[in-house]
Amino acid sequence: MTEKPPPTTKAPPPPLSRGDTNQNPKDIGFLALLREDLRTHGNNPFEQGFWALAVHRFGNWRMGFPKLIRAPLTLLYRFLEKWVEWTCGIHLPYTVKVGRRLHIWHFGCLILHARSIGDDVHLRHATTFGVARTFDNLGIPTIEDRVDIGCGAAILGNITVGHDSVIGANAVVVHDIPPHSIAVGIPAKVVRTLKPAETSAPPATVPESTVSS
Ligand SMILES: CC(C)(COP(=O)(O)OP(=O)(O)OC[C@H]1O[C@@H](n2cnc3c(N)ncnc32)[C@H](O)[C@@H]1OP(=O)(O)O)[C@@H](O)C(=O)NCCC(=O)NCCS
Repeated sequence: MTEKPPPTTKAPPPPLSRGDTNQNPKDIGFLALLREDLRTHGNNPFEQGFWALAVHRFGNWRMGFPKLIRAPLTLLYRFLEKWVEWTCGIHLPYTVKVGRRLHIWHFGCLILHARSIGDDVHLRHATTFGVARTFDNLGIPTIEDRVDIGCGAAILGNITVGHDSVIGANAVVVHDIPPHSIAVGIPAKVVRTLKPAETSAPPATVPESTVSS
């Protein structure tokens, strides 16, 4: 009789960011970063994804100041964070490390508790990143570079969505997804591995006429 392999145990998740440092991308200044985020959102200052991201960048930028100067900025950040939640339906805490050119398409119902979100990631409405089990506060996902996430997707637990992957609409992802994968369904399964030519980064700047994806 062949012996059953021992179950693979995943290492416990590392601690989460305490939110005591500025986690904005280091290779670009604050104003240039905001300009880039605006370009990523079709140069449309009324895009709610841009507002959410701008407030997130501000929340991090203020952490570069000493406590006394930071205090009024923190008050403003707390207000803006809630205002974005109320008006845009997007919850993106500043403690989530976000790379460059994140594009949040459409309105609302985005709850984005992740360890990090990489460069050139696309998110759509009703995307959830968070814990798989109530009170398992360390168990939140990592989204690598150039991941394209369909509307209604839920990515749950201490898992990693590998770079250059596509997550189908309404998928529930509860296991690691290897890089260059297309994963769909509940629970999400990889249905195809993408060829490198299919996964080249999309243009950072989206022409206004195409802001509909
Ligand atoms: C996954 C997706 C990217 C398609 O990828 P693709 O490689 O072209 O995949 P295909 O269309 O060839 O589908 C592969 C299989 O997955 C299934 N599939 C595709 N999308 C699916 C989804 N979201 N959920 C469940 N199954 C899905 C297909 O039916 C097909 O199954 P089959 O082989 O049994 O027929 C696309 O269907 C999707 O979900 N995009 C999200 C975009 C979005 O959110 N748009 C909203 C804009 S507002």
